[in-house]
Amino acid sequence: MQLSPLQSRLAASLVASCLLLLLYLFLFPPNFALAAELTPPIPLVLDLDGFDSSNPPTRSLVDPTYEPEFAPFDRSIIGRAPAGVTSLTNNEPMSMNVDNGTTQVFVFALPGVSGRAAEKDRLELRDDRNASEGRDAGAGAGEHQEDEERDLTRRQASRTVYISANTCQQPQPVDPSKTTSDPPQLTLFVSTSKQNQSPGPLADPASQRVIAFEEGAVMYSLTSNSEVYIGVHAPNVSQEFSGVYNVRVAGSVDNYYYSYDSQDNADLIWVDSDSQGALLITHDLTNSSDPTVIAQIMSTEPYVLFAHNTQDRAINGLKYSFCGLQNYAQIAAIKDGRRTDLVKTSMTRRGQGNFPKQQFFFSGLNSSSQYIGILAKDGSASTKRQTTAAGGTEVFKPTNFSTKSDHGNCALIVDLAFCDQVAYSVPSNPSFGNATKLANFYDTFAAGMYSNFNKSLAQIQCEAPSSQRYSLARNCTDCAAAYKDWLCSVTIPRCEDFSNNASYLQPRAISQPFPNGQMLDAATLASLPNTTSFNSSRNPLIDQVISPGPYREVLPCDDLCYKLVQNCPAKLGFGCPLPNQIGYQGNYARHDPSSGLTCNFPGSAHFPSAGAKAIVSWGLLVGAVVAGILGF
Ligand SMILES: *[C@@H]1O[C@H](CO)[C@@H](O)[C@H](O)[C@H]1NC(C)=O
Ligand SMILES: *[C@@H]1O[C@H](CO)[C@@H](O)[C@H](O)[C@H]1NC(C)=O
Ligand SMILES: *[C@@H]1O[C@H](CO)[C@@H](O)[C@H](O)[C@H]1NC(C)=O
Ligand SMILES: *[C@@H]1O[C@H](CO)[C@@H](O)[C@H](O)[C@H]1NC(C)=O
Ligand SMILES: *[C@@H]1O[C@H](CO)[C@@H](O)[C@H](O)[C@H]1NC(C)=O
Ligand SMILES: *[C@@H]1O[C@H](CO)[C@@H](O)[C@H](O)[C@H]1NC(C)=O
Ligand SMILES: *[C@@H]1O[C@H](CO)[C@@H](O)[C@H](O)[C@H]1NC(C)=O
Ligand SMILES: *[C@@H]1O[C@H](CO)[C@@H](O)[C@H](O)[C@H]1NC(C)=O
Ligand SMILES: *[C@@H]1O[C@H](CO)[C@@H](O)[C@H](O)[C@H]1NC(C)=O
Ligand SMILES: *[C@@H]1O[C@H](CO)[C@@H](O)[C@H](O)[C@H]1NC(C)=O
Ligand SMILES: *[C@@H]1O[C@H](CO)[C@@H](O)[C@H](O)[C@H]1NC(C)=O
Ligand SMILES: *[C@@H]1O[C@H](CO)[C@@H](O)[C@H](O)[C@H]1NC(C)=O
Repeated sequence: MQLSPLQSRLAASLVASCLLLLLYLFLFPPNFALAAELTPPIPLVLDLDGFDSSNPPTRSLVDPTYEPEFAPFDRSIIGRAPAGVTSLTNNEPMSMNVDNGTTQVFVFALPGVSGRAAEKDRLELRDDRNASEGRDAGAGAGEHQEDEERDLTRRQASRTVYISANTCQQPQPVDPSKTTSDPPQLTLFVSTSKQNQSPGPLADPASQRVIAFEEGAVMYSLTSNSEVYIGVHAPNVSQEFSGVYNVRVAGSVDNYYYSYDSQDNADLIWVDSDSQGALLITHDLTNSSDPTVIAQIMSTEPYVLFAHNTQDRAINGLKYSFCGLQNYAQIAAIKDGRRTDLVKTSMTRRGQGNFPKQQFFFSGLNSSSQYIGILAKDGSASTKRQTTAAGGTEVFKPTNFSTKSDHGNCALIVDLAFCDQVAYSVPSNPSFGNATKLANFYDTFAAGMYSNFNKSLAQIQCEAPSSQRYSLARNCTDCAAAYKDWLCSVTIPRCEDFSNNASYLQPRAISQPFPNGQMLDAATLASLPNTTSFNSSRNPLIDQVISPGPYREVLPCDDLCYKLVQNCPAKLGFGCPLPNQIGYQGNYARHDPSSGLTCNFPGSAHFPSAGAKAIVSWGLLVGAVVAGILGF
């Protein structure tokens, strides 16, 4: 049949309409399928309708047993938090000013799940459980593999919430010269009760936990299956201060976003200082001897460091707050453009065991001053998840250190070519030259002495079969290492201020003038024996070439000498004096970690380091046959 033009046009548009309808159905079928799947459809659909379209829900409808628990608060909290309440998202800190006498309220909702995010969340949860097995004792016990999926869902509904906060700013004294107190700390209030959605000093004490900030930081964890209400309260501040508090608050289900450690020993070790510089190191960052592990760690600089003169009160009350230190610390080894010129950081393998550690070298400090150094980790700078939640920060316990007097006759030297373990203050004189020249002077002398010894050692049958060797337990490598340790400690004296009265220090060069021409007063001179060991340096070349003036020497540890005797062939004729024998006094000192740095050894510092333990064990090996006197 032939169609008229009108009929064919109708047919064409009919076909087009049908195709359009099919296309529509093809593109939007989930709506229909979804409606059919919702078994108790009425409340869920109403819930969905209640959502503000500008605030789309980010949750899935795949798990009906789990979803309804979240529906009510997802809407009331994420959708529209009450006025004056800030909602917190997992691992996303909020910054907020808090006026004195007021409370800021935050609400943290457990992160919801949706499709892929749910899968990821579950994987993370599994990960977390592995990580927190110790803390979370019993949580994983007696579980069957097949129960795991359901159990995860249950745990999803009740999770550990880590709340942490840092005070970034606090009221400052109006007149710093008159104010002797520090501004009071903030207080954290935490509630999980629907009846107490504004925790604070005025709320029912039974329904909330109260945790005071410590040095500008707070950490609190709880288990919750619903939203957590958080109040940060600023106390009334006296008229001596002005300004507001600024705080950063973070909630996380992974770990503390802002953490601090006030319990452990300081992770930062003060090695030594001079009148305007100081050297600090971290503990060993690994004890692995795997070269790839070591190379990997040597390529990182995991820590940042803050330092501050203790006479300045600016960081008091903020010592555990990363942003507080960023804002107020005088010196920061952190790449944010502030005062980095005063401190240089690098990795080093100096010290016992040659394990990697990070070192911080200060310059431009004030003389005779007390400082604190605070080590911290900035998670936002490294992508690797550390002990804090991703992107968080961690602050460690402060370490005290001080600078020497302005006599300037002790100077820090590091990075010597031969005596590579030397990193401490040595007798010096500003007129002699810079630290590089000073280091070369000492290093060249030690290397020259070593080459004489090397020639003697070459006479010994080192490579001989074991029956002809000097010892079955030691070889010439051990002897050479022991000699080098001893030689560097003996030829490069460790220098302390003359004003330091510690009994284990040996006064030197007492009748010489200080670099500024000053002499010791007659009364001090009269109180000291007029003998060579007081009147001159151990190595006369120091007095002739450098003329440091009066200083005190941290004597080498006697263990260095005993180790030399044990490791080297008797033929070389080494011997050591014992305490109370002639030649001991003024040449060696005993290692006594309880009294501080009583003697000098490779890798020694003002804080017991790993080397401290090693050296104690050498002492136990001391044989009875010790003769002769070694030294200068
Ligand atoms: C969790 O621990 C189990 C054994 O306790 C181990 O088999 C599994 O690989 C660990 N998973 C992760 C992600 O570390
Ligand atoms: C803080 O100051 C307000 C008035 O400024 C006063 O009502 C309140 O009682 C004070 N709180 C404390 C703890 O002193
Ligand atoms: C604390 O609050 C009171 C009352 O609002 C105000 O007068 C005072 O200046 C505030 N103190 C500081 C340090 O801001
Ligand atoms: C290496 O360090 C780990 C912990 O970091 C410790 O458990 C282990 O005992 C250490 N090994 C040695 C040889 O010190
Ligand atoms: C050094 O002392 C001056 C004056 O006391 C002080 O202003 C300055 O901040 C101090 N600098 C350091 C790095 O301690
Ligand atoms: C550091 O010095 C302060 C006083 O300035 C003192 O209270 C604190 O105990 C010292 N810390 C250590 C570890 O010696
Ligand atoms: C130290 O002085 C020498 C010259 O005596 C100079 O070549 C060198 O660059 C100086 N080093 C530093 C770190 O200033
Ligand atoms: C010591 O002597 C040996 C050869 O006997 C030589 O290989 C080595 O480089 C020397 N060491 C030093 C530091 O001079
Ligand atoms: C010396 O002994 C140490 C073990 O004590 C060993 O590692 C080293 O290879 C030995 N050196 C020589 C040259 O035999
Ligand atoms: C050292 O001792 C003298 C007198 O015994 C004393 O006047 C001086 O203050 C002491 N110095 C230090 C730093 O303790
Ligand atoms: C130390 O003794 C020398 C000679 O032995 C003498 O010249 C010097 O004046 C004495 N110094 C003091 C302070 O007694
Ligand atoms: C002490 O040193 C001074 C100057 O260096 C010297 O004149 C004096 O003789 C020395 N005294 C002794 C006992 O060595």
